[in-house]
Amino acid sequence: MKPKEVSEFLASRHSTRDFLSKPVPQSVIDEVIADGLTSPSWSNTRPIMVAVATGEVRDRISAEFMARWEIVAPIRSSKWGQFKLLFTRRGLPTSNPLVAKPYVPALLPRAQKIGAALFSHLGIDRKDREARDAAWARNYEFFGAPVELFILTHTSLGKFSANDAGMFVMNLMLGAHARGLGTCAQGALSIYDDIVRSEFDVPEGYELLYGVALGYPSDDKANSFAAPRFAPADITVPLKP
Ligand SMILES: Cc1cc2nc3c(=O)[nH]c(=O)nc-3n(C[C@H](O)[C@H](O)[C@H](O)COP(=O)(O)O)c2cc1C
Repeated sequence: MKPKEVSEFLASRHSTRDFLSKPVPQSVIDEVIADGLTSPSWSNTRPIMVAVATGEVRDRISAEFMARWEIVAPIRSSKWGQFKLLFTRRGLPTSNPLVAKPYVPALLPRAQKIGAALFSHLGIDRKDREARDAAWARNYEFFGAPVELFILTHTSLGKFSANDAGMFVMNLMLGAHARGLGTCAQGALSIYDDIVRSEFDVPEGYELLYGVALGYPSDDKANSFAAPRFAPADITVPLKP
């Protein structure tokens, strides 16, 4: 492959946020996981695991995520609602509370920009909280994907495990893309690890990083959204003056 072709292929991947219910054969799931495993890894330790949710397991996990979101969504911004959550605990994060926290000022404008662009593309008014919540809730339906991959990392290597997981997921996403499949990383799913643990026998030392929806993209409008790409200069550290 020529460099230009590689660049074009990389640029042609976008997150998929609406999937057909068409099942993904187990052999294809295995192939994309094998592609993921071509990534580099810290001392080749591969401090990662994947829990593959399909069929009834996928449906039960999705239903429980949705049930908790339905408790949290209507009450999350009222003081009384927050008190109630603390009291009943159902709906409180069981892992990665970061998801529910605001962005730091250095990153907030970027997050707001992509959120605004996606909502505008979907025809959602930013002031329409119900529509925004419904869009967010699609995360818990895995955007209709028949496969959800839960990515787990070994806690002992800290950020290096997360780094390995990210590189694994990237190669997996590209392998999926090459086969006409779509993917979407889902930090939204990192919040309730107990749901994943209730279905999978997760070995000691592993924690949930995030989910990745996998399936065949539909022709829904959500999938024609192209997130703007940054320029190299946007992330290049300047020399000291
Ligand atoms: C770790 C991680 C978590 C993400 N979590 C979510 C999520 O919960 N929901 C969602 O719709 N997109 C999620 N995304 C997708 C990003 O919004 C998307 O990658 C970004 O806007 C760039 O768009 P692109 O993937 O189409 O290039 C996540 C991406 C990453 C890398």
